[in-house]
Amino acid sequence: MIKKGIILAGGHGTRLSPLTKVLNKQLLPLYDKPIIYYPLSILMLAGIKDILIISNVGERRSFMKLLGNGKDLGIKISYIEQFKPRGLPDAFIVGEEFIGNDDVALILGDNFFYGQGFTNKLNKSLRNNTGATIFTYNVNNPSDYGILELKNKKIKRIIEKPKKPKSNLAITGLYYFNNKVVKYAKSLKPSKRKELEIVDLINKYLREKKLKAEFMGRGSAWLDTGNPKNLFNAAQFISTIEERQGQKIACLEEIAYQKKWISKKNILKRISFYGKCEYSSYLKKIM
Ligand code: G1P
Repeated sequence: MIKKGIILAGGHGTRLSPLTKVLNKQLLPLYDKPIIYYPLSILMLAGIKDILIISNVGERRSFMKLLGNGKDLGIKISYIEQFKPRGLPDAFIVGEEFIGNDDVALILGDNFFYGQGFTNKLNKSLRNNTGATIFTYNVNNPSDYGILELKNKKIKRIIEKPKKPKSNLAITGLYYFNNKVVKYAKSLKPSKRKELEIVDLINKYLREKKLKAEFMGRGSAWLDTGNPKNLFNAAQFISTIEERQGQKIACLEEIAYQKKWISKKNILKRISFYGKCEYSSYLKKIM
């Protein structure tokens, strides 16, 4: 059972510049809340309460200002700054002490997941993970992601941003790993783009026959927030659903309250922290 999760919230967000010239990408708005609320909500929905946020040097304070030590969200948040973005697997090297002897989930700080039944899938695969678990999603632009190559419906290998993709199945930015991940991450060599590659790490588990893939069906959404147009489209998606249902996506306090991790007192503290705004009105409503 995985009890710890890492949110990788570093990177330069170059494709979003000038938006990201001053602000960390994960703190930009995705409709009505900062981007980081969405991946954090996913870890919380998976029942993970011990969370490490990795940011760039000098940015820890902004995240702390927003989320604190997690107490009023019913979780424990620690922070660490990454000297230089060296690729996704670096999260396990930077986070070694946090991971200790445990298994761990990793989610990229800018990933948006949504869909009926997704929480069940998250929880089931969390319990069943023995090596590594990846979540895959059908995309129209496979050359932009880590892509599965299949043979007889089995995963043959995973290739990072292939020029000639062998499928449309992308690996999303959510991963479960057993404790070996720290050792494996340390053994990786930088790729041509001078980064440690998550696909190299996953391929190690594949070779050991320890890789599981969970397919996210067409009734679910995994949206990109990597460039201005994608970010805008994702915001519109969220706005449409929230407005229609009168329910918020990724309201952290609501998730914690429903899980009975926090009391009304904690929500009131968050309301006074947020001040008079639509988000606070929603929190009052859910109480
Ligand atoms: C990274 C991974 C890629 C994965 C993607 C998901 O890509 O390298 O395998 O499909 O995240 O968001 P990057 O953000 O480095 O382009």
